[in-house]
Amino acid sequence: MFLGELDPQAIGPAIEFATHYEPTPLADFEVLMKSVPPGFIFSDATFVDVGSGMGRVLMLASRYGFKQVVGVEISPALNEIARENIAVFKDAGSLCRDIRLVCADAATFALPHGNLLLYLYNPFEGPLFAQFIMRVLGETDGEVVLLYHTPTQRDEIEKYPVFTLHAETDCGVVYRKELAQEERRVDGFIARAHFEM
Ligand SMILES: C[S@@+](CC[C@H](N)C(=O)[O-])C[C@H]1O[C@@H](n2cnc3c(N)ncnc32)[C@H](O)[C@@H]1O
Repeated sequence: MFLGELDPQAIGPAIEFATHYEPTPLADFEVLMKSVPPGFIFSDATFVDVGSGMGRVLMLASRYGFKQVVGVEISPALNEIARENIAVFKDAGSLCRDIRLVCADAATFALPHGNLLLYLYNPFEGPLFAQFIMRVLGETDGEVVLLYHTPTQRDEIEKYPVFTLHAETDCGVVYRKELAQEERRVDGFIARAHFEM
C-alpha cells in the first residue's frame, strides 16, 4: 500500500522518501530477533519500530519482555489502525503491555534514552535515512541494536565504524552500535568514567 493513496497531505515532504506499507512476515521477525547479540538484555531496553504501520511488529515485540515498546509512524491513518489493533490485542504470551504509539516523522522523532532495539522494515530512503542514522549516532546514550529488514540503505550505516555488523540473514541485517569507551557497561550499569587525578 503506497502512502500517497492514504493521507499524503498529512505526511508532507517526507513522503518523497517513504517506501510503501507492508507488514513484516512473522517468520522474518522471529529470524531477526534470534540474531540479536547475546547479552543484550530485553528487559532493560526499549523496542522502537521505526515506521510502525498498523502495529503488527509492536504486538510481536511485546512477547519479548522489553521495558517498553514504541511505534513511530508518519501516517495518521496507519497509526489510527495500529491504535485500534493494539486496543483489542490480547495475547497470553505478551510480556510487555506498555506499548506506545507516536505519530511523527521518525527522522525527527527524539529517540528514547537508555538501551534501544531499533527495528526498521525499509521505512524510508535517501537523505531521510541519513538524517535518522545521524540521530542514532548523536543522540543515543545506551546500547543500540539495529535490526534492518530489506536493508536497501545499509551502506549509509556501514559508513560509520561505530556500527558493527553482527548478523546477516536472508531477510535482513543486524548491527550493534558500540558504546563509547567511557560508557561501557559494568555490572548492568552504564559506567561513565570519572578520572580523578
Ligand atoms: C514497510 S512498512 C513496515 C511496517 C511495520 N514496521 C512492519 O514491519 O510491519 C514501512 C512503514 O514506514 C512508514 N514510514 C515511512 N516514512 C516514514 C517516516 N519518515 N517516519 C515514520 N514512518 C515512516 C510507512 O508509513 C510504513 O508504515
